[in-house]
Amino acid sequence: MKTHPIRFYYRGAIREVSGVPVTRTVLQHLRDDLRCTGTKEGCAEGDCGACTVVVGELDAQGELALKAVNACIRFLPTLDGCALFTIEDLRARDGAMHPVQQALVDCHGSQCGFCTPGFAMSMWALYENYPAGAGLPTRDEVATALSGNLCRCTGYRPIVDAAQQMLDADRHARVALDREPVVQALRQMRRPPDETFVYTSTDVRGGTFGENRFWAPTSLEPFAQLRTEHPNALVLAGSTDIGLWATKQLRDLGDLLYVGRVAELASIERDAVTLTIGAGVTLEDAFAALVVDYPELAELGKRFASLPVRNAGTLGGNVANGSPIGDSMPALIALDAQIVLCRGRETRVMPLDAFYLGYQKTALDEGEFVAAVRIPRPATTLRFRTYKVSKRYDQDISAVCAAFAIDLVDGTIARARIAYGGMAATPKRATMAEAALAGGPWDEPAAQRAMQALAHDYQPLSDLRASSRYRSTVARNLLWRFWLETRDDAPLALAQIDAFAFDAAQVKEAP
Ligand SMILES: Cc1cc2nc3c(=O)[nH]c(=O)nc-3n(C[C@H](O)[C@H](O)[C@H](O)COP(=O)(O)OP(=O)(O)OC[C@H]3O[C@@H](n4cnc5c(N)ncnc54)[C@H](O)[C@@H]3O)c2cc1C
Ligand code: FES
Ligand code: FES
Repeated sequence: MKTHPIRFYYRGAIREVSGVPVTRTVLQHLRDDLRCTGTKEGCAEGDCGACTVVVGELDAQGELALKAVNACIRFLPTLDGCALFTIEDLRARDGAMHPVQQALVDCHGSQCGFCTPGFAMSMWALYENYPAGAGLPTRDEVATALSGNLCRCTGYRPIVDAAQQMLDADRHARVALDREPVVQALRQMRRPPDETFVYTSTDVRGGTFGENRFWAPTSLEPFAQLRTEHPNALVLAGSTDIGLWATKQLRDLGDLLYVGRVAELASIERDAVTLTIGAGVTLEDAFAALVVDYPELAELGKRFASLPVRNAGTLGGNVANGSPIGDSMPALIALDAQIVLCRGRETRVMPLDAFYLGYQKTALDEGEFVAAVRIPRPATTLRFRTYKVSKRYDQDISAVCAAFAIDLVDGTIARARIAYGGMAATPKRATMAEAALAGGPWDEPAAQRAMQALAHDYQPLSDLRASSRYRSTVARNLLWRFWLETRDDAPLALAQIDAFAFDAAQVKEAP
């Protein structure tokens, strides 16, 4: 196969790069190769946001879509065909500061300044994406946009003030990106639909030097073919797990087969019975689609990692990775989701819970990949909730994640599905607790019986996130909360239970 240089639009021109390792991160390229050192490295694992940049791509309508992502865990070949914006892009040609920067200055939103370029880029993405005429963003909207940025010295209040103030037309004239040259460049870089982007580099491979390859096919057939021809190549999606294997574990990843350009894997389809989410759909888009059917998933979607991680990471990557503390699986299992696996032209479908065989062991066969997740459309008889318990509200990994789904038909529980993360070596159903509920009424004794049964379903581990005792107690209490929220008699509203549930509209005032 012919190999190509990596092409992307940066600072007004299309750049071509070759000769860097396939796992060269965007951050390493910016700082070490281009000497554009405005973008900072804090953690190199997607946690702090100091490296935040904005990536532009053409969406299905041919419009420029701008998303904040973490440069530290994104591999450079995945930028092929995209536009990259960094803090260096913000200042005008005449040296004038962008309203994002001016608002940070005016609100005293920066002290040591190390986090500031990352905050400024998350704010710029919000600035560019915020609908014209919609007034100022609420503090809740700002918090979501800045959920991936940590600041150790300033404190967040002035930064949130700045993110509202930057869009205040009375204070700052609007400075919108001139999108036309970017769109033109993206069109120019577009590869023919049947062409697979191939990038090769000579670097460490199998402990010695060798050639590593990066393939980015644009459709399913060549993707499936490459997967069967190269079963040892690592399937790469958003790299929000894999990126850390390179930057933290210094693992030698070998060949990479990229999901991110395969059109069929990026689709979301909805018919009368099923919502089908392609494996390459980002977590942000996947949760947006899920929330249409199941509004109960809104909080989990918002608390899954941070916006830059959700903009890059995929639902397919989350279920394929199969971490025992992955957040999407308990809910998907409770909703009776199925996973679609492909090898070559063969497809098989299985219940998601059957996919997890043991710690870091799934039913994925050699040469197979995850193509999609299928979720049944909601039934009127369903009562469903999912809860994430972690030390921080935003951007934290769960100690326990729980999901409960019961079908109530004529006052009787026709079916109960309960699944937990953080309680076993895999995301796992609580079959004993389910059995304690099925066939009876949804009443307090039933909830108590199911809570007792959880002790037989799980013997959780103690680790740095939580002790075994804490996990067991939380698991029981979450089931109790589910009962309190979904009982027929005086169900508790979210605002009565959740300290973070508040009406965002109340805080939409100007700073
Ligand atoms: C800062 C930070 C915060 C995070 N917070 C959370 C959190 O709150 N909750 C949570 O659950 N996770 C969290 N994660 C983990 C991660 O974001 C998710 O697991 C994400 O869904 C992984 O998707 P990805 O597309 O980035 O996968 P990748 O990193 O690209 O791949 C992950 C694994 O899945 C495999 N894979 C990917 N796609 C396919 C496919 N189509 N077929 C077969 N195999 C495939 C890869 O080979 C690899 O083994 C966090 C990560 C970071 C860096
Ligand atoms: S350096 Fe911390 S998120 Fe990238
Ligand atoms: S200003 Fe110092 S870390 Fe934010």
